[in-house]
Amino acid sequence: MLEEVVATRYVTPLREGGSLPGIVEADDLGTYVMKFTGAGQGRKTLVAEVICGELGRRLGLRVPELVTIQLDPVIGLAEPDQEVQELLKASAGLNLGMDFLPGSLGFDPLAYEVGASEAGKVVWFDALINNVDRSWRNPNMLVWHGEPWLIDHGATMIWHHNWPGAQASAAKPYNASDHVLAPFGPDIASAAAELAPLVTEELLTEVAAEVPDEWLAGEPGFETTDQLRRAYVEPLLARAGSIHERILMDEPTRTRPSQAPGWLTDHLTSWPHPTKKDRDAPAAAGPNSKDGGR
Ligand SMILES: Nc1ncnc2c1ncn2[C@@H]1O[C@H](COP(=O)(O)OP(=O)(O)OP(=O)(O)O)[C@@H](O)[C@H]1O
Ligand SMILES: [Mg+2]
Repeated sequence: MLEEVVATRYVTPLREGGSLPGIVEADDLGTYVMKFTGAGQGRKTLVAEVICGELGRRLGLRVPELVTIQLDPVIGLAEPDQEVQELLKASAGLNLGMDFLPGSLGFDPLAYEVGASEAGKVVWFDALINNVDRSWRNPNMLVWHGEPWLIDHGATMIWHHNWPGAQASAAKPYNASDHVLAPFGPDIASAAAELAPLVTEELLTEVAAEVPDEWLAGEPGFETTDQLRRAYVEPLLARAGSIHERILMDEPTRTRPSQAPGWLTDHLTSWPHPTKKDRDAPAAAGPNSKDGGR
């Protein structure tokens, strides 16, 4: 089970998150980004955060530490925003916390270069968990102390929204065309060779065991929470061995304007970054060069 802490102060909402996560302080003197059980996205989002976040960390990817946070909504009484008040009231009890990375910046693919090996691992991992939320539109990566960190694994494992169709759903390909790391020439073959053998039944059972019972209880079609934990293990196990053969990577749907500050964009070249293949043949200047692409 994840470590459990008690929220002692609601600091501020994070408006850039669709689920309105909040920064809270806790009785272990830690500061956390809290995701609420009462948010409209539902508790399955939190289950996905735990299973995929804990899996990613065990595969050697950088994921901030996760905890569960006991919330007494009374700590938000001074919060003037009605929406936040409602969210706190609806979330009494156990919520999810992610270690807050102070001073981190949102990942911008024009400002930070990621190597083909690391890009391959992240794309392969996202394919495994079917993460639809690591695109250039919404990278869900932070840069902290100069290194990229993965956050927000709530929109993954689509099959847990329809268990009877889970097996068929998990057999489907993963479209990585808009993945934020697609332009870095991700070395998916090496990532699969290194990471797939680590995704064992034992490891998946271990990460499924980290999910609090109360977020699993009462799922239609399952008599016990352990049965449901088992249902989380199977599609991931089935996918691990062969998903690298079903990762689609075409042109991104649309080029993206940089969100980097002006002083930085002056130093940047083109979007997308040249792939490894392009770098080997530098004459291939594409339509996305700085003047034409934005
Ligand atoms: N551990 C963290 N440390 C620092 N900042 C964070 C952390 N986690 C999230 N944030 C900030 O909060 C924002 C929202 O977080 P997150 O993406 O997890 O929320 P969300 O509600 O699931 O968002 P959405 O579904 O809109 O992508 C992030 O874009 C980032 O700016
Ligand atoms: Mg997000």
